[in-house]
Amino acid sequence: MYVIHENPEWFPPLAAAFEAEGVPVEEILLTEGQIDLAADPEPGVYWSRMSASSHTRGHEHSKEYTRAVLGWLERAGRQVVGGSHVLELEVSKVAQHGLLQRAGFDVPRTTAVFGRSTLTAAAHAFTDGQDVPFITKHNQGGKGLGVRRFDSLAEFDAYVDSPEFEEPIDGITLLQEYLTAREPFITRVEFVGGEFVYAVRVDTSAGSFELCPADACEVPQVIAGAVCDVPGTDGPSAFAVRGDVTATHPLVQQLRTFLADQRIQIAGVEFMETTDGRTVVYDINTNTNYNPAVEETARASGPRSIARFLGGLLDSEYATAPAGAAVTA
Ligand SMILES: Nc1ncnc2c1ncn2[C@@H]1O[C@H](COP(=O)(O)OP(=O)(O)O)[C@@H](O)[C@H]1O
Ligand SMILES: [Mg+2]
Repeated sequence: MYVIHENPEWFPPLAAAFEAEGVPVEEILLTEGQIDLAADPEPGVYWSRMSASSHTRGHEHSKEYTRAVLGWLERAGRQVVGGSHVLELEVSKVAQHGLLQRAGFDVPRTTAVFGRSTLTAAAHAFTDGQDVPFITKHNQGGKGLGVRRFDSLAEFDAYVDSPEFEEPIDGITLLQEYLTAREPFITRVEFVGGEFVYAVRVDTSAGSFELCPADACEVPQVIAGAVCDVPGTDGPSAFAVRGDVTATHPLVQQLRTFLADQRIQIAGVEFMETTDGRTVVYDINTNTNYNPAVEETARASGPRSIARFLGGLLDSEYATAPAGAAVTA
């Protein structure tokens, strides 16, 4: 197994799971490196968990390196989990939104704005000139990048013109209707090998938009006036298993079909239940860092499920000859 990624801090729980499942694994850290285009990739199964927030760790080109490598692997016929089509989805909320909407999910009303100069005009059009709450987020996001709430157009105009303005890495800012949660939590449903693993309830009562569930996430970041609740830093974890959302839940079944149609084998999908009775799906993550508090109490483990699933792919791709069979020339 080769694991393509960019942040070594996120790897230990996965390495432990591969070891426990007896799956041989090597990391491909795509912060630098090279590929010989005349050569065939090493035999093996490849899993990409390139992160949409890689640029925030000084790796602004890792996304491009991964594009190049995944294409090379795919052209050579290697089995890739999290291939090119998954990377394109990971780094684009526009793409996520489009696929979810086409598949019939309730998604937040959203406008994608290219560049900075038309943002204020776009926001005026988006809200019809009214002072209704809306949020911004970066197209290439993850960990709450650029997620801010605005309650008036004046407030937004001032922000866009200020040094506070957060430039999205790909220049695309989303304007999105503000959803009011019926209860202060969102739900994230984890799938591995296309199958349901567990649902996580993430408490949002602290008002934070920063929901990276990694214990090794970077320092708490101030987002929209609130502080990231990184588990283990302070008080009880904001993350818990959501036991009433199981494999038979209608939304989970719908998501399972969606992921199968899109050939996405490993993903965490987030949704919110709103005060007006909607169940809105708004984020697809293809490189979850499984929360330790959840892992401790859940009946299944994210990393172990991944190691087992990928180990199975490796076995079927490179099935060894039955023990004792002689190799003859
Ligand atoms: N339209 C919305 N209305 C209200 N809160 C939102 C909305 N979209 C996102 N949020 C909050 O912000 C968090 C981060 O947004 P999300 O789209 O998941 O971006 P990221 O990919 O950075 O995680 C969500 O988990 C949720 O708590
Ligand atoms: Mg999210």
